[in-house]
Amino acid sequence: MPCVSPRRMMKMKVPKTCSSILRRILMVDQVLSEFWLETEELKEVMRRMQLEMDRGLGVVTHDQASVKMLPTYVCLTTDGSDVGDFIALDLGGTNFRVMLVKVGEDEKRGWKVETRHQVYSVPEKAMTGTAQMLFDYIAECISDFLSKHHLKHKKLPLGFTFSFPVRHEDIDKGFLVNWTKGFKASGAEGNNVVSLLRDAIQRRGDFEMDVVAMVNDTVATMISCYYDDRSCEVGVIVGTGCNACYMEEMQRVELVEGEEGRMCVNTEWGAFGANGELEEFRLEYDRRVDRTSLNPGQQLYEKLISGKYMGELVRVVLLKLVSLGLLFHGRASRQLKTRGSFQTCFVSQIESDTGDREQICSTLSRLGLSASQLDCDIVRLACESVSTRAARLCGAGLASIINRMRERRRQDVLKITVGADGSVYKLHPCFQEKFHKAVRELAPCCDITFVQSEEGSGRGAALISAGVCKTAACVLNK
Ligand code: BGC
Repeated sequence: MPCVSPRRMMKMKVPKTCSSILRRILMVDQVLSEFWLETEELKEVMRRMQLEMDRGLGVVTHDQASVKMLPTYVCLTTDGSDVGDFIALDLGGTNFRVMLVKVGEDEKRGWKVETRHQVYSVPEKAMTGTAQMLFDYIAECISDFLSKHHLKHKKLPLGFTFSFPVRHEDIDKGFLVNWTKGFKASGAEGNNVVSLLRDAIQRRGDFEMDVVAMVNDTVATMISCYYDDRSCEVGVIVGTGCNACYMEEMQRVELVEGEEGRMCVNTEWGAFGANGELEEFRLEYDRRVDRTSLNPGQQLYEKLISGKYMGELVRVVLLKLVSLGLLFHGRASRQLKTRGSFQTCFVSQIESDTGDREQICSTLSRLGLSASQLDCDIVRLACESVSTRAARLCGAGLASIINRMRERRRQDVLKITVGADGSVYKLHPCFQEKFHKAVRELAPCCDITFVQSEEGSGRGAALISAGVCKTAACVLNK
């Protein structure tokens, strides 16, 4: 099926004399072309994001800014690390992971890291009940993990990767700004997350932990890559949620005292759009997905990109095509009509089809849909339209960060490594390539290396705890 250049199709009238198949293809293209964003439009998104980033960093403008630019109290140093055993926790999606991280000496590189982990799925009632229920469940998982590894008697240092917006007052003290990604546990927003964890551990009373650091997953990812590559000063996640962090000049981080050196800033760019900055780019499908989400009006940029919403967006687009009589003979199955039925991994599966449409047919049959060849091609185009827009928009965000780093550092060519992670980034067949391409196009004069982090969330949290990266407080007070 021809892939008619997006946008250009928009204003084309479909001639009445077209054969019915060609007419159908052209009409589908008309619908999907809305997803294409020209480079100039991406540059406009970048301009607006830069503005919000500046406002987020400024004391006076911070409260109104949609991009909060939260200081993390993590600085990078090349100092050595403590060695020993660390527990790392990773909470940010439907799975909760507990890891044992052994940081040790290595003859060649001076250190090595070994990990063992266990994944626990977070029950819906813990995600949307009370904070106490959620943190009691977390403490129960840690207790189970320690028992299995015969570690209950030890009081180990613990690093907590907590992948939500947190307003830090120190590396081990931070207040949850708001939940994202389907979490809703009441009584957590506005509270110190480390205290919630410590209290839950105390309530159980069957083990002790020394909670030494709490970090965002973007920060953990950056740190875990920095460990191998000292040019890694940016972390990005495209998974259930979407976010990035980077090393900002201390002078610009107005919310924290001190002028020297750099501090890692958690941008929380997922909230971009809350001040209306994305209105002319959001489509009827985006508005519908937002309206039916747990947090309408929030995380609007994230909702255009991340895995929590990508499948649902495709589903809503498919329903539109069905309603126009362009797909499945104008009839949707019960499953397709059900919110949340089109998982984001289906988007990856469909786009991975090798051309014989087998993969597409089998994915669609799971949704009770029997598809003709043309139906399969149309569904694939819908997936590509949504994921390509996501990759390019995300690229615009990252390019905004990299460009500002280059400007701040007054370098002709900025050499930078980006640590990246997340299910969409890792598992979607074409996201990475399109994302990288967009970043490189929108951040010229930058020599960018992307490194995929392995177990970054847990490793990073443990490494921060191990003191590879000293907290700002330590560095600034020296
Ligand atoms: C959260 C971020 C997180 C991102 C990726 C977003 O919903 O607000 O803190 O880094 O998801 O997990």
